[in-house]
Amino acid sequence: MPEQRTAIYPGSFDPLTLGHEDIARRSLKFVDRLMVAVAHYPTQEKARLFSVQERLEMLQECFADEPRIEVTDFSGLLVKFCDRVDVHLVVRGLRAVSDFEYEFQMALMNRELDPELEMVFMTPGVEYTFLSASLVREIASLGGDVSQFVSKPVLDRLQAKLAG
Ligand code: PNS
Repeated sequence: MPEQRTAIYPGSFDPLTLGHEDIARRSLKFVDRLMVAVAHYPTQEKARLFSVQERLEMLQECFADEPRIEVTDFSGLLVKFCDRVDVHLVVRGLRAVSDFEYEFQMALMNRELDPELEMVFMTPGVEYTFLSASLVREIASLGGDVSQFVSKPVLDRLQAKLAG
């Protein structure tokens, strides 16, 4: 059996948006398997809307239809996680020029830390270029309708979280 091409799609996913989902599903055009990896930031956990466990559950629900997507989490450096799981290809979404500087800096730094690592940048569908998890959080917390920006499992959890 030929070797499977695997990539990691890391992020905070607080919460997962349709833009993230679009990037993950598009990347399956060039990889056989994708690990969507929620990054732990113990020092920032209190600032998050959803716990890592809740984000993992949301991701699992949203990608339940796609056996080629595996949901996982990691703490510490991305390059160390990549090394541990022996995957050296990382996918990131690039929405607009404003994302570029941060992503470029992170890509070059990651390559400095691990010369074996390659990063691939994908643009989401144009309907998602203005979308961000932080805007979804803000709109939802102010009572706005985010149903066109997130999947049903995320919407349900947002409503439950913000009602409680
Ligand atoms: O969705 P985000 O918050 O933009 O994702 C950022 C993420 C998680 C990909 C990035 O912060 C990361 O890789 N964090 C792990 C810690 C690390 O490796 N930091 C050095 C980056 S050069």
